[in-house]
Amino acid sequence: MAEKTHKFYELTIEERLKTLKKAGDLNAEEIAALSGAAGLTPAQADHMIENVVGTFALPLGIAQHFLVNGREVLVPMAMEEPSVVAAASFMAKLARAGGGFTASADAPEMIGQIQILDIDDLDAAAERLESAAGGLLALAEKADSLLVKLGGGPREIVVRKIKESPIGPFLVLHLIMDVRDAMGANAINTALEQMTPTVERISGGRALLRILSNLADRRLVKASCAIPVKALAFNDFSGEDVRDRIIEAWAFGQADPYRAATHNKGIMNGVDAVVLATGNDWRAVEAGAHAYAAVNGRYTSLSRWSKGPDGELVGELEMPMAVGLVGGATKVHPGAAAAVKLMGVKTAAELAQVIVSVGLAQNLGALRALATEGIQRGHMALHARQVAIAAGAPEKWVAPIAEQMVKEKSIRVERALEILEEWRTR
Ligand code: MEV
Repeated sequence: MAEKTHKFYELTIEERLKTLKKAGDLNAEEIAALSGAAGLTPAQADHMIENVVGTFALPLGIAQHFLVNGREVLVPMAMEEPSVVAAASFMAKLARAGGGFTASADAPEMIGQIQILDIDDLDAAAERLESAAGGLLALAEKADSLLVKLGGGPREIVVRKIKESPIGPFLVLHLIMDVRDAMGANAINTALEQMTPTVERISGGRALLRILSNLADRRLVKASCAIPVKALAFNDFSGEDVRDRIIEAWAFGQADPYRAATHNKGIMNGVDAVVLATGNDWRAVEAGAHAYAAVNGRYTSLSRWSKGPDGELVGELEMPMAVGLVGGATKVHPGAAAAVKLMGVKTAAELAQVIVSVGLAQNLGALRALATEGIQRGHMALHARQVAIAAGAPEKWVAPIAEQMVKEKSIRVERALEILEEWRTR
């Protein structure tokens, strides 16, 4: 099994699917859904959004070698960008030298907000709302009795005063709710609406917005890894050198928002690909990630890289992760359902822990490449294939044309067209 998994990239698509069928105990329909042979039908899609004309496919790759909290996980990634899946797999392999990824998750608590306007005395209204918290939570509980039965439900009321805004001061009431294995938007929004008339009566104000906050900082997930320096050495770079360069590269993103945006984009390459493959709301996760990266008033890197006590490279990533296994598209979309089954995750927290581990692996891949040989070399080989395809190269010529362009250091559609023409007439 280990032998085979390590050579996954060398297999044909058919062979890869066969491996997954066995490893993930998937049935024929689930395999068909992953492969794109079946999957989401236009009729199903028509129930999901409006004005449907069809479905839209992206490449689905499986990242290998992930060990998260001691468990082997095959990671489905929906992604259009070359090198991402390969980098995640390679970095997961490096992380194994230090025992893989260790991850933990907060309780799945989401935040809902009610904006309360037209209040003369913010302090007095806030006090009244705070004293009524018990009753408000009881009201919110009525919105979703199933959630309560499952051990979730409303947990806390927090009242915040916004003292300065373009429309003057106002109050914000936060409902904290444990949403268990859901992403939670529906549960939260329903509960907020249920509470609104009472909130208005108690505060004496006018409730305007009642909506979930995507800054899900009560639902943080943390992943870490510790890689022995020996495992980091490659080509002419010593392990110590690679470690120190990675820490220096991280420090750039930590200190400078221009770099932090790109640094975090690299993390989100991994995060979004899994969020998308499992049918979750990647815009919500993106919004939460970037808001959290700026939560202390200055936008900074979401991850942290440092030297451990034994000289190892230590990586840590903490970020909000509002993903679910129930509700949303995860159950409805056959490809997403098969992806979740393949991962073997049983709770939203487990899924979130894998996702954040992938984000950390992706970040490591980018920093390692950028801080040593640069990313273009690896990137270009795959990019060249896309250029060859864009030029209309037949399947059997895609790889050879790509190779030729890389050799010539000229990766352009015009050049691919020229080579195509030459080869067709020779
Ligand atoms: C490209 O998609 C992502 C990177 O730019 C991330 C980074 O710079 O850290 C390589």
